[in-house]
Amino acid sequence: MSRALLHKEIVLGVSGGIAAYKAIELLRLIARAGGAVRVIMTANARSFVGPMTFEALSGRPVCSDLFDRSGRDAAIRHIDWAQAADAVALAPATGNLIGKFANGIADDALTTLLMAATCPILVCPAMNTHMYESRPVQRNIERLRSDGHRIIPPGSGEMACGTVGPGRLAEPPDILYALETALTPKDYRGKRVLVTAGPTREHLDPVRFLSNPSTGKMGYAVAGAAARRGADVLLVSGPVTLAAPIGVKTIRVTSARDMADVVFDRLAETDIVIKAAAVADYRPRDRADQKVKKDDRAAHQSVAFEKNPDILKTLGERKNGRILVGFAAETERLAAHAVDKMTRKNLDMIVGNIVGGPDSGFGADTNQATFFYRNGDSETPPLMEKTDLAHLLLDRIKERWL
Ligand code: C5P
Repeated sequence: MSRALLHKEIVLGVSGGIAAYKAIELLRLIARAGGAVRVIMTANARSFVGPMTFEALSGRPVCSDLFDRSGRDAAIRHIDWAQAADAVALAPATGNLIGKFANGIADDALTTLLMAATCPILVCPAMNTHMYESRPVQRNIERLRSDGHRIIPPGSGEMACGTVGPGRLAEPPDILYALETALTPKDYRGKRVLVTAGPTREHLDPVRFLSNPSTGKMGYAVAGAAARRGADVLLVSGPVTLAAPIGVKTIRVTSARDMADVVFDRLAETDIVIKAAAVADYRPRDRADQKVKKDDRAAHQSVAFEKNPDILKTLGERKNGRILVGFAAETERLAAHAVDKMTRKNLDMIVGNIVGGPDSGFGADTNQATFFYRNGDSETPPLMEKTDLAHLLLDRIKERWL
């Protein structure tokens, strides 16, 4: 989980569509990520979800009338809220709300707040497919985009009204992701980062290979975090089941040699290389073109291996002012092995971790790592989520070298 929402004030603007019930889940996700939520509803939204639900879940009063009976406080509340907000998410945003916002109409509490807000505003349209595709709605969405607001496009599928097509509110976890991205400082803007991730496969024949249990989670977390922070990221990934991180150009490769080809090819356009991939050091010397058949007579077979290119070592030889960061997964004597690799490969930094435990290494969502630096410093952060570790790694690279 990213820390971007921790102690942030988020205004959740809910307008009157069937998808209003999904705002409940979004509210819970934001709260779980550490954000403080205030809900502001249109009058129509109250026909779909009662303010009590939002009040109970956010622990704060819900605003739904520009001039309600509780007096002056309520009348200026939307201005206070607009000023206090770190971000606003409009979910669901109906065609009507989008139309008013795009055209500067402020005739209720929510639209007035939008006019007064200076923070990032995320617009998550949700409506009937024909409405969504209509010219006025598309024109208004385009206008909001060119005003600098972030549009989270709706998903496609069967709608409550029976039509099939775009118009379903984006999934709450995707809206949360966009909110976190909007609130992440862009301190890597202009930096070109190349990340490698996952295992490699070294084939014996078309259906058999040697590999390792790397799932790519650490490298994908680094690539995603760098992209969120504004970097131009290229991810070179071995075979994994993870989806490409949002905003990251991803090239999939199979073997160490494929990975080497892509990395060397892209090196000239790279400022920082972070090699989180678990690259095979050796490959079978011979690869059969067809599936090798079982030989009932042979009790033993041997395979000859030859060395793969050490990508990072070669990068260290051609460093040319680039920042090089390696990873070292070890089962023993972490510091000695990691520091030795950093020196041999001419790296600026290496992230070492002991693999084998349930909380760290291959496949885990958390990582217990130690950072070793070229000048002899080292640092062991607490056990943390791989996403948090990715951000910490980027913090350290920035502090030392950017
Ligand atoms: O020597 P070892 O493979 O343990 O070093 C680990 C580091 O070197 C990792 O960052 C890994 O991505 C990189 N590496 C590489 N090419 C190889 C082997 C490892 O770039 N053939």
